[in-house]
Amino acid sequence: MLIAPGIEACVADISKRGWSSFALSDDLQRKVSTAYEAAATFFDLDEKSKEACLLPYGCGYTPFGREHSGNPALPDRVEIFAASARTQDLALDLPCAAGCDLHERMMEVFRWFEMTAEDIMRGVARMVASDVPEQELTGGLHRWSQLQFNRTILTEPGQFINTAHEDGHLLTFAHANGRGLEIVTGLSVLEPDRTSSAFTVMPGAILSLLTGGEIRPLYHQVRAHSRSEHRLSLLFFADLDPQLCKPWKITPANRDVDIASRILGNAGRFGMDGFPPD
Ligand SMILES: [Fe+2]
Repeated sequence: MLIAPGIEACVADISKRGWSSFALSDDLQRKVSTAYEAAATFFDLDEKSKEACLLPYGCGYTPFGREHSGNPALPDRVEIFAASARTQDLALDLPCAAGCDLHERMMEVFRWFEMTAEDIMRGVARMVASDVPEQELTGGLHRWSQLQFNRTILTEPGQFINTAHEDGHLLTFAHANGRGLEIVTGLSVLEPDRTSSAFTVMPGAILSLLTGGEIRPLYHQVRAHSRSEHRLSLLFFADLDPQLCKPWKITPANRDVDIASRILGNAGRFGMDGFPPD
């Protein structure tokens, strides 16, 4: 259930200004807050304990130095913990209780984000074409999406945590406990409104390809605002089963593009491991 602005308004927003936002219900906000508390506990562990919490497919813990925004020499100034449906069972055997708990807390909200992303995806598909077999898309995000916490490495205010990039996914939902996210459109840079319950909705490269370029991927960056406090952000990266990636509208922008291969290779573009085919 999308509290505000609702799915149709969200889709219209994406079409008109290139991005949108939504607010969480009180119940979901409580669950997200609990996940933030579990993330803070986990990231405060010593490095050895955190590194024992590696999981396959780029999930579990990833230390600073690996993920980047397109330039491997300039890693994003974050450490990461990611959760997914594919690693839900594996996470039960993590050797560190805090890692196990964090994955579980994240999966308690994963399903809601997945359903919301599916609703937005269907809405965008309906907007660009009248003959998309929507039923075939049902459940298509479940095994290809992930929820990720990023905690910043302390950085001088004004410096980049990550530089301008588009996400290689279908959709990203972004939330953080502090300022930093900036949306880049042409020469202008703006900060989306930030409240404890607001998530920013950002279309990625895969949504752009499925729509024949009608929706553009949103460029964004993150800048440090405090030299003494870590910024924690929660990101839901929605991707679609590659087997379902038939373009909704064919244009020169996607006519010769193998969208399924893009999904399988996208994580590698940013230094991470992606999900293998089912
Ligand atoms: Fe991003």
